[in-house]
Amino acid sequence: MARLTRVLLLAGAAAVVAAQNGTDGLHSLMVKAGKMYFGTAADVNSFNDTEYMAIMSNKNDFGMITAENSNKWDETEAVQGDFTFTKADRVVAKAKQNGQMMRCHTLVWHKGLPSWGNLAFSPCVMILLPPGCADSLPYSAVADSAWTNETLIAVMETHITNVVTHFKGICYAWHVVNEAIEDIYNPGYRETVFSKVIGGDYIPIAFSAAAAADKDAKLYYTDYGLESMTEKLNAALIIVDDIQSRGIRIDGVGLQGHNIVGATPSRASLGETLRNFTALGLEVAWTEVEIRHGQLPPNETALQQQAQDYAAIVGSCLDVKECVGVTIWQFTDKYNWVPQSLPGEGDACLWSAEYQRRPAYDAILDLLRGTINGTLKLTPAPPPDTTKKSAAGRLSVGTVGGFLGAVLSAWLLL
Ligand SMILES: *[C@@H]1O[C@H](CO)[C@@H](O)[C@H](O)[C@H]1NC(C)=O
Ligand SMILES: *[C@@H]1O[C@H](CO)[C@@H](O)[C@H](O)[C@H]1NC(C)=O
Ligand SMILES: *[C@@H]1O[C@H](CO)[C@@H](O)[C@H](O)[C@H]1NC(C)=O
Ligand SMILES: *[C@@H]1O[C@H](CO)[C@@H](O)[C@H](O)[C@H]1NC(C)=O
Ligand SMILES: *[C@@H]1O[C@H](CO)[C@@H](O)[C@H](O)[C@H]1NC(C)=O
Ligand SMILES: *[C@@H]1O[C@H](CO)[C@@H](O)[C@H](O)[C@H]1NC(C)=O
Repeated sequence: MARLTRVLLLAGAAAVVAAQNGTDGLHSLMVKAGKMYFGTAADVNSFNDTEYMAIMSNKNDFGMITAENSNKWDETEAVQGDFTFTKADRVVAKAKQNGQMMRCHTLVWHKGLPSWGNLAFSPCVMILLPPGCADSLPYSAVADSAWTNETLIAVMETHITNVVTHFKGICYAWHVVNEAIEDIYNPGYRETVFSKVIGGDYIPIAFSAAAAADKDAKLYYTDYGLESMTEKLNAALIIVDDIQSRGIRIDGVGLQGHNIVGATPSRASLGETLRNFTALGLEVAWTEVEIRHGQLPPNETALQQQAQDYAAIVGSCLDVKECVGVTIWQFTDKYNWVPQSLPGEGDACLWSAEYQRRPAYDAILDLLRGTINGTLKLTPAPPPDTTKKSAAGRLSVGTVGGFLGAVLSAWLLL
């Protein structure tokens, strides 16, 4: 009740500001279209860039901010037990000044870890395999055996409790566990120090600690590729089911939405993936969207395709009642991770590195305006599959869970 009131007040306030300002933007139109927000990742490393700050601070475009890095473990607990929030607090202060909400990112992840305790040990550094190998090599090959189940749980709980408590009342949502699913070789738990030492139980344990520290923040599981890899989608549904079946709170799933121009699923397919989670009683959000070109520079056709792909993602959120909003992972290529990590790819954001808006920006506005004035219709959910109905919609997930659970246990025993 209190949370609902807060949300309605925030949404109402956004609409009022937009009306006073009179300028249509991503956020103001999202709110008019019935969603809570349109948002962006941003962080202090670009806060001296005045052009950047003018766009980030325009609440017509962005009503929600996610600190790209400053809330992560290596920033908040760089020294064990010594919590520092200087950078994250600056992001919060700026968002507050702009009247923007915050999504908070992230508590337990296999990257962005501090150097102590060998938590972040990367096999790639030793073996010099191509980029991405840290995501797929067995952690067991190099794991530091100094942690016991008890000591690692204690360290994880201490981290979560301190960080969540510091930001109590500030975060609309916490991304509690991020990217826990392996995607290349095994559709099971990604091999990290957490899954290796604690087992898959680290996920419900993390959610339980976050719930104890803040009863109001929405608790999310977040991952990428759920919209395009069936095995990953299945594994995420099993994780949700595992948390829920223990009576532990999970409120939402965030689909990151890192996509490639021309390889982004259709609006209808994206909506179907969102509904796979809302069927479990969760809310959903797109939490890290950017759509990169595989070849640079993009030609006009590719730019139009990118515009369609962005519109498909935003459209899928409009189509699903429980989708609260869309966050892009930086609004400008100047600070987006793609050019650095995937050389030769990029031009993925709504603004270029020179702060020129791409056609995708206008495509989103057109989609929102058309939806608001009724000329564009929502894509309805497919009719319910009556053959599966008797088991209250849970049977299909349970069945998949049994099968994948078996695969997963077999794999974990290796
Ligand atoms: C931003 O400006 C401040 C004050 O001039 C300076 O102390 C800080 O180092 C600058 N930060 C960056 C990331 O350039
Ligand atoms: C609307 O607000 C933004 C950011 O506060 C500002 O840049 C813009 O000039 C305003 N537009 C109008 C018409 O007032
Ligand atoms: C570690 O302890 C937790 C909490 O008791 C338990 O759920 C989990 O299965 C244990 N993991 C291992 C590997 O023993
Ligand atoms: C996701 O939803 C679609 C459409 O209802 C359904 O066909 C599919 O089986 C679901 N996937 C899973 C893994 O439950
Ligand atoms: C535009 O770029 C795409 C992707 O690089 C390419 O497949 C296509 O052939 C190009 N089209 C034209 C008209 O050059
Ligand atoms: C509705 O919005 C779309 C997109 O901006 C626009 O092209 C169209 O003319 C509008 N139609 C009406 C009836 O206002």
